[in-house]
Amino acid sequence: MEEFVDAFRQVTETSAFAGGPFVARFETEFAAYCQTRHAVGVGNGTDALWLSLLALGVGPGDEVITVPNSFMATAEAISLCGAKPVFVDIDERTYTMDPAQLEAAIRMRTQAIIPVHLFGQPADMDAILAVARRHGTPVVEDACQAHGAEYHGRKAGALGVAGCFSFYPGKNLGAFGEAGAVTTDDSELQAKIQTLRDHGQAAKYRHAVIGWNARMDGIQGAVLSLKLRRLSAANQARRDHAQLYDQLLADEPRVVRPAVAAGRTHVFHIYAVRVRDRDEVLQRMAARGVNCAIHYPVPIHLQEAYAFLGLRAGRFPVSERCAREFLSLPMYPELREEQIEFVVNTLKECLRP
Ligand SMILES: Cc1ncc(COP(=O)(O)O)c(C=O)c1O
Repeated sequence: MEEFVDAFRQVTETSAFAGGPFVARFETEFAAYCQTRHAVGVGNGTDALWLSLLALGVGPGDEVITVPNSFMATAEAISLCGAKPVFVDIDERTYTMDPAQLEAAIRMRTQAIIPVHLFGQPADMDAILAVARRHGTPVVEDACQAHGAEYHGRKAGALGVAGCFSFYPGKNLGAFGEAGAVTTDDSELQAKIQTLRDHGQAAKYRHAVIGWNARMDGIQGAVLSLKLRRLSAANQARRDHAQLYDQLLADEPRVVRPAVAAGRTHVFHIYAVRVRDRDEVLQRMAARGVNCAIHYPVPIHLQEAYAFLGLRAGRFPVSERCAREFLSLPMYPELREEQIEFVVNTLKECLRP
């Protein structure tokens, strides 16, 4: 606690509230952590996605491919550029973009592809990048749930042309409020995002392009620098908890446990199982004192906001089935063994025979 108070004091004494040296220091540290040349701090994960797409030149009339089972922000960022989200279904084991369905979705207007490292497991990036390369299409990673996750030894955020992170307080690396970042090796992209996040200013009061106010707060930069030091240990704790959940659920045929594909390191932002009659199970567990969550109950293509796309139920069967069956069990580094046992015992009691 003392170190956070001290960090607040330093930010306050230097009045470095919006952007500034504490954000710059965090950017350097986070880029090093993610094994990228640059990181650009922004206001939140939605800004990170939106500004990455804008910097890549995505605009009205363009299409960007992503998956329907993500947080709404992934598609929103596409729409905010004036472009159209085009969805491909997910792989039933990893819950990430099914590369086998990607090629068929690419068209003349496709300007980018956004795989989502859902729940903390990287998507199948080799296969996705191979398709993208054939078409010359940039890949922007939605790594908002995958701080520190790895794909064949390389960090999430270092795999595509840009990696987008959210530091929403509940994330594996969470700020004391809203914050986000884009990681990239591309210096031109970095410079464009830096300009866009600051009203398009190339120099003070000289606006080269129309941008936005998407700067990271100095206090968040200072907090994130401190919390970044604990990220690896916190991710390991989550993996240990996931392993215990896996062991305790191994003999339970009514539960589909999360699968981790070979060569990928999952950071278990969310430990989601799949069960039948999920809504009833959720209610029964809540009545017994175990609060679970659903990520996400309605796939993006079936959200009211996207009704204009005309995509009906049945169009993306794996995403839709997962949305009906996903149940996120409690997951955070401080969980204790006996709490996990209690959750699992409660879940078993609450499942239909
Ligand atoms: C997969 C995914 N994409 C994008 C976002 C958006 O991030 P933020 O809430 O920081 O804008 C989130 C965070 O909630 C997310 O989980």
